[in-house]
This record gives sequence, C-alpha cells and structure tokens, in this order.
Amino acid sequence: MRRLLACLCLAYAAALAAASDKPVNAGPYVPSPQSVVADMLKLADVGPGDFVIDLGSGDGRIVLTAAKVFGARGFGVEIQDNLVKLSNEAAQREGLADRVRFITQDLFKTDISQATVLTMYLLPNTVNMLKDKLLAELRPGTRILSHDYPLAGWIPEQYVQMDLEDKVAISGVTTTLIYLYVVPARVAGSWHAKVPASVAKGAVRLDLKQQLTRVSGSARVGGREMLLEDVRLKGEQLSFRLPGRGGRFSGTVRGQAIEGMVEAGGVKSPWSASLR
Ligand SMILES: C[S@@+](CC[C@H](N)C(=O)[O-])C[C@H]1O[C@@H](n2cnc3c(N)ncnc32)[C@H](O)[C@@H]1O
Repeated sequence: MRRLLACLCLAYAAALAAASDKPVNAGPYVPSPQSVVADMLKLADVGPGDFVIDLGSGDGRIVLTAAKVFGARGFGVEIQDNLVKLSNEAAQREGLADRVRFITQDLFKTDISQATVLTMYLLPNTVNMLKDKLLAELRPGTRILSHDYPLAGWIPEQYVQMDLEDKVAISGVTTTLIYLYVVPARVAGSWHAKVPASVAKGAVRLDLKQQLTRVSGSARVGGREMLLEDVRLKGEQLSFRLPGRGGRFSGTVRGQAIEGMVEAGGVKSPWSASLR
C-alpha cells in the first residue's frame, strides 16, 4: 500500500512537472543492487561492440560496469549534478574516462540514437512515457533493459525474476524483475518479393501487419492468397513459413528492403523484397 501511494504521489508530481517546463522526475535516486546490474548486462549479452546509455544514471554504476567488466562504451544522463560529478570521478579513477561519460541532462530530452543497449530503472509510469521515444529514436535490434517495470503492451524478448534481500529496503519486497526488449524493424506494409522459381512462379506480394514485435500477414502467390505461418520478428530478423511445402523464409530488414534465404525441399536459395 505504501509503495502504491508513493507511486501515485510521484506520478502526480510527474504530471505537474510535465505541465510546467521542469524536467519530469522519472524516479528517486535508488541504485540498482550491483548483482542486478551484472545480471542486466549479461541478459543483453553486452560486449566491446556495444554503446550503453543509462537513462537516470544515478552513481553511474550501470555504464561503469558495462565498460569495466564487459568492455563497452557509453554514457549516462542524470538530473542530479552531484551524482554526475561522482560518476565522472569514478570513471577517471577506474581509467574508463576515454570510454564513458556522464552528463547532467533531462533524460526525456536526450538523444539516445547512438545506443545499442539502453538501460533504465525508473518509475513504472515514466518507463511507459518513454515508449514512443524509444521506438522513434532507437535503431532496430537495440536491446532495452528495464529493471522492475515493463513497457506496457510490448512482449519482452526475455525476462528474469529473482528474489533479492537488498530490494526489501528499496521496494518493500524481495521480488526483482529484469525485462529485455529488442527494438523491432518496421515491416508493416505491402512488399514485392522475388523468390526462386522452385518456390513460386512469378512475383509474390507480401502484406504484413505489425504491432510492435507481433507480425502477421499473407502472401499472394500466382493469384492465390495464403496466410503466413510462424511469423517472427526479432530486431531486423524476420522469418515466416508459407503453408504446405512453400518454404521457410528468413531475412534481414534494412529500411525498405529485405534480403535473406528461403529453404524449400532441403535446398536453400536467396530471396529479397522491397516495400511497394
Ligand atoms: C532509480 S534511480 C536509478 C539509478 C541507476 N540507473 C541504477 O539503476 O542504479 C533513477 C535516477 O533517475 C534520475 N532521474 C529522475 N528523473 C530524471 C530526468 N528527468 N532526467 C535525468 N535523470 C533523472 C534520478 O535522479 C535517479 O538518480
């Protein structure tokens, strides 16, 4: 009950701040336990090729750990100056200042397009206020990690639940959740597909409908309409099957083009599609 009341008060404060021009308070300073930080970064398989952005970076522990333990680069944004100062001092001390930095900035106004991994431990309502920004600015394939609170209506790629004594002081319960999302490519629309003659004679039209990661659709092959089966979209990777012996398609979506392979009758051949 206390937790619910606190959330309601903060949501009310967030609405008031949004109405004025002040930065929305996306959550109080409560650091993620270090074991959760490690679990988050492992769940997203963070590595040296990654650029990690933490929204509301607190003492900087997520970005610092991503650099120190997993070899990544990145930055954190935080509205409390003193925390930004502490984080930059820690980066200097640990010899990480060439790979990470911390800036005093409103997370809602931060350009996040550079991220390959985005992390947040924010209030449930603010996590959801960020959903449109995440979808508009992050590239397909970017991993999003949210500590404790889900993005409504978006099926996570994975989530883990654990019990941690450390969390009792923070949220009153031991339950800890980590949600991993992958930003989906935009595939909705009508596509003109070129497929091998062994799969279909002539051109194929694919009509795809999309709601975040959920995709359904049909294929028009030689005047016949058929529903696509087992359609999956993970980041830029799209796959589906045509009914019967029509073949298993997989491909990479890049803007208005898809390129990949289709497997039919034990033979793999290339296929491609362009948005009509
Ligand atoms: C729950 S703490 C999380 C700290 C860190 N990410 C971690 O997991 O250890 C949330 C942080 O977000 C910061 N914050 C809240 N609203 C913000 C805003 N509009 N812009 C930037 N930072 C914000 C708070 O000051 C706080 O340090």
